[in-house]
Amino acid sequence: VQAFLPSKKKIPINPDIQKECEKVATAVDIEDLAEKSVFCRCWRSKKFPYCDGTHNAHNKETGDNVGPLVIKRKS
Ligand code: FES
Repeated sequence: VQAFLPSKKKIPINPDIQKECEKVATAVDIEDLAEKSVFCRCWRSKKFPYCDGTHNAHNKETGDNVGPLVIKRKS
């Protein structure tokens, strides 16, 4: 009897953003942040590093639960 075990296959988290780079790092000047800035953490946004909502389709398709980093200014 073979029990079901989750796959241990290693897959990249970044499917296609700046694959020509050894490492994708992003700097944003704090002065350029709006009252609310929303950054992608699913690596699938067409506006990366900003979230464009693509995580919703990714989560629905894969059963994942990823979402953005939301930075808000204190009022
Ligand atoms: Fe990636 Fe929203 S599109 S977290």
